[in-house]
Amino acid sequence: MSFTPQHWSRRQFLQTTAFAAAAWNVRGAFADQLTATPRLTEGPFYPDKLPLDTDNDLLVINDSITPAVGEITHLTGKIVGPTGQPIRNAFIEIWQVDNNGAYLHTGDSRHDQLDKNFQGYGRFLTDSQGRYYFRTIKPVPYPGRTPHIHVGVSQHGKRVFTTQILIKGHPQNDRDGVFRDVEDPKLRELLLVDFNPLPDSKMGELAANFDIVLGRTPADTEHDEKPSGIGKSERESGGGGPGGRGGPGGRRGPGLGPGGTGGPGGRPPGGPRPPQ
Ligand SMILES: [Fe+2]
Repeated sequence: MSFTPQHWSRRQFLQTTAFAAAAWNVRGAFADQLTATPRLTEGPFYPDKLPLDTDNDLLVINDSITPAVGEITHLTGKIVGPTGQPIRNAFIEIWQVDNNGAYLHTGDSRHDQLDKNFQGYGRFLTDSQGRYYFRTIKPVPYPGRTPHIHVGVSQHGKRVFTTQILIKGHPQNDRDGVFRDVEDPKLRELLLVDFNPLPDSKMGELAANFDIVLGRTPADTEHDEKPSGIGKSERESGGGGPGGRGGPGGRRGPGLGPGGTGGPGGRPPGGPRPPQ
């Protein structure tokens, strides 16, 4: 016998409608929340020895007069919580290959082709509005991967979020195994960033913006906290060799806060790993 509404007692009906109302309220509670930015793997090439300069300008190491090779990109963005509240004083780290497709990692097979002028890694402390700024290069592909920039966010010294930025419209995106880990196309969209020409730039500079929405609930963030942090990979806990140079420095966007600081970093070199 199929169960139709006319078989329901008044009591059952009230229970059911009460449940529906509760469900509606739960949905309502989340209705104003933003969709969290999808996480992607840290990959195997978080620098195993941090550069001497860890500021937010990846194009120039310390006071060198020779800049890195690549398409200059001004990468900006904002880190917010689930209701859009700015996340201030969070460390955002980025790392990526140089224009030859080589990582700042001794386990990368292209390590000997490294552009010695590319910093490969940088960090920035978000300002009171959750904003960050880096000067870097537009990412290029390397074997097995579509171009991307790795991103890590740490709060209170611990990594709370890890992902990758991809170039919107790049033909390799759709067959990239890491990117396809995010199954929902609408969520994937949140990792795609336009690299647009900077108006009036005579050097062909680009501008890219990537905003990050951290987890929907505090529990999400706690659950994903790893024993990693500033200058430390998710893959191995504990620091290794000397870390980056301390102190303020680096280029800043207008009105943005201090640049990177020093701290422990590096770890023993690992063996070659598949590209990620
Ligand atoms: Fe990578």
